[in-house]
Amino acid sequence: MLNFRTAAPSDIAAVLALVEKAFRGETATRGWTHEAHLLGGQRTDAQALRDIIARPTDSLILAERGAALIGCVMLADRGVFEGRRIGYLGLLAVDPDLQAGGIGGALVNEAERRARELGAESMEMTVIKRRTELIEWYLRRGYGLTGREEPFPLDDPRFGLPKTRDLSFVVLAKPLTPAR
Ligand SMILES: CC(C)(COP(=O)(O)OP(=O)(O)OC[C@H]1O[C@@H](n2cnc3c(N)ncnc32)[C@H](O)[C@@H]1OP(=O)(O)O)[C@@H](O)C(=O)NCCC(=O)NCCS
Repeated sequence: MLNFRTAAPSDIAAVLALVEKAFRGETATRGWTHEAHLLGGQRTDAQALRDIIARPTDSLILAERGAALIGCVMLADRGVFEGRRIGYLGLLAVDPDLQAGGIGGALVNEAERRARELGAESMEMTVIKRRTELIEWYLRRGYGLTGREEPFPLDDPRFGLPKTRDLSFVVLAKPLTPAR
């Protein structure tokens, strides 16, 4: 059984290990989608995770099976734009040894459920444009390409060490029906 809970500062070391395992290096290649071929270095660090946990607008949602941490996702309240509250989803990661079993989809559903509770009418996220298999995965979950793109922080090692300069983000969005 999968349980969800909000991360506390005492979870940071375990979340960091999970995120690095899923996004970077040889361990990431055990999963069906990752960015180890595009980026080395770190995906995030303890300070960034501390900041997410500390910000009242953000939360880190953990998926656990028993006592084992097997997935995580960040949900941020981006505020109201043109009369609509926007949620933002990031740092989605599932243990590469346990992927393709529905955990990633369940984490996205949980983040959307919590975003609706916050009153969000839309969920946004950014994905590296070259990760077409991942973009298709989000499209199958109701997300759409907005046509907006954002630059990748190529020269900021807090986000990794690029193996190519050809990196940019596409912005995806999904309308959220109101919570009942
Ligand atoms: C993206 C990620 C969170 C998905 O987690 P997951 O637990 O594997 O997700 P699910 O089990 O819910 O979905 C698996 C999907 O992969 C598909 N899949 C499995 N193997 C695949 C393959 N070789 N190629 C393409 N798709 C594949 C399945 O068809 C399924 O999609 P569907 O449910 O639409 O049919 C996970 O792969 C991950 O942590 N990746 C590394 C970190 C990352 O890139 N995060 C996203 C950042 S935006």
